[in-house]
Amino acid sequence: MKRREFNNLLALGLLASSLPVAIAACQSDSTSEAGSEAEGGFIPLGSVADLDAQGSLANENLQGKNLAVIRDPNAPEALIAVSAVCTHAGCTVTWNGDQNLFACPCHASNFKPDGTVDSGPARQPLAIFEAKVEGDQVLVKV
Ligand code: FES
Repeated sequence: MKRREFNNLLALGLLASSLPVAIAACQSDSTSEAGSEAEGGFIPLGSVADLDAQGSLANENLQGKNLAVIRDPNAPEALIAVSAVCTHAGCTVTWNGDQNLFACPCHASNFKPDGTVDSGPARQPLAIFEAKVEGDQVLVKV
C-alpha cells in the first residue's frame, strides 16, 4: 500500500469514526433546547395577557395533556391548572368564569376551580398540575 492510499484510508476512518460523535453532539444540542423550554418540567401554555383577557388558557395537546389554567378566584395571584378531561367520560371541560366552574358539555358535570366535583355525574376530581408565571408566560408542569 502506498503512503497516499494509507493516508486516504486513515482520513476516511477518522471521518467515519467521528460521525457518531457529531450526531450525538447535534442531538444533545436539540435536547438542551427542549430542556430550556421544559426547564424543571414546566412548559409554556400561553401568555399572562391572554389569560387575563380570556379568563382562562387551554391547550388540548400540551405534550399529550389536555390542560386548562385559570387564576385562583380566591387568590388571583395564584394559578390553578387542571386536566380538562372530564372524569366522567372524557369530554373536554371549559372554564365558565361567570359561574366559577369548569363545565362539561357532554353530561353537564361541573367542577369547582380546584378541580373538585361540584355536580355530577362525574364523581372524581379533575387532575391538578403545577402552574406558575414566569415573565409574561404561564407555565405548566406536565
Ligand atoms: S363526560 Fe363530562 S359529564 Fe359526562
